[in-house]
Amino acid sequence: MPAKIIDGKAIAADLREKIAADVAEFHASTSVTPHLVAILVGDDQASAVYVRNKEADCAKVGIKSTLHRLPAETTQADLLELIQSLNHYPDVHGILCQLPLPAQIDEQTILDSIDPSKDVDAFHPENVGRIAQGRPRFLPCTPHGCQHLLIASGIETKGAHAVVLGRSEIVGKPLAMMLMQRGAGGDATVTICHSRTKGLSEITRQADILIAAIGKTKFVTADMVKPGAAVIDVGINRDESTGKLVGDVDYEALLDVASAITPVPGGVGPMTRAMLLRNTLTAAKLSR
Ligand code: GUN
Repeated sequence: MPAKIIDGKAIAADLREKIAADVAEFHASTSVTPHLVAILVGDDQASAVYVRNKEADCAKVGIKSTLHRLPAETTQADLLELIQSLNHYPDVHGILCQLPLPAQIDEQTILDSIDPSKDVDAFHPENVGRIAQGRPRFLPCTPHGCQHLLIASGIETKGAHAVVLGRSEIVGKPLAMMLMQRGAGGDATVTICHSRTKGLSEITRQADILIAAIGKTKFVTADMVKPGAAVIDVGINRDESTGKLVGDVDYEALLDVASAITPVPGGVGPMTRAMLLRNTLTAAKLSR
């Protein structure tokens, strides 16, 4: 039987509807409109598209958004000054500084400077620590999107062997923590694999749930996947020959092996964006 295709676009649309209703209810009881500020430094084309999409998403659910566009030669001191002023501005609930940043700016210094209660990316060390301790304030958007896809698709994580390919701070590491935690979308036995892992295919073939977040086109081939496994593809890569967006897994080949699989585009991507909206609403609620 061919794999069930997990429709991230439809699941994200459902989620946005729920968030829009929650935003309206919050506004009705407090007169507060959640407000997300995005900061874009430089001329990275992909970043510009991401930020534009985030602004459009906000508009759909009744969240106010403001974009600060800064030139590529912006100094770290100037960016820090902007973030400090946004940290203190009560009308601003969420702050997102789009990555990557130009080379003269240290990303960690910038992420550390965002008020943790406005850190809708959940990249601040305080928020990462809270996730590690199982008492999150915000969950990082992409891992949370992956977890929600599993739950919404009825894929049982409890007792499952989840193998996460990739150890990034943004996806692999927090997602592994979340899948291991107690409760819905958790209770899995988790293995993290990365570029130095020996015997990779042997490990991935043990996965009931395989999550690919390594940023390499078609890295996961059919022989690396156990028949019946659920596969979540976090990769967003540009295929050099066709110019199309492709994931980290060989999607066509896996359709005959996996029990469920996310497409690229239309899988994890829309979920990441929806979770940012949810975090912005959470941040607005926290400010009360
Ligand atoms: N660049 C690529 N993905 C992300 C993300 O999730 N958050 C931020 N701030 N920048 C990114």
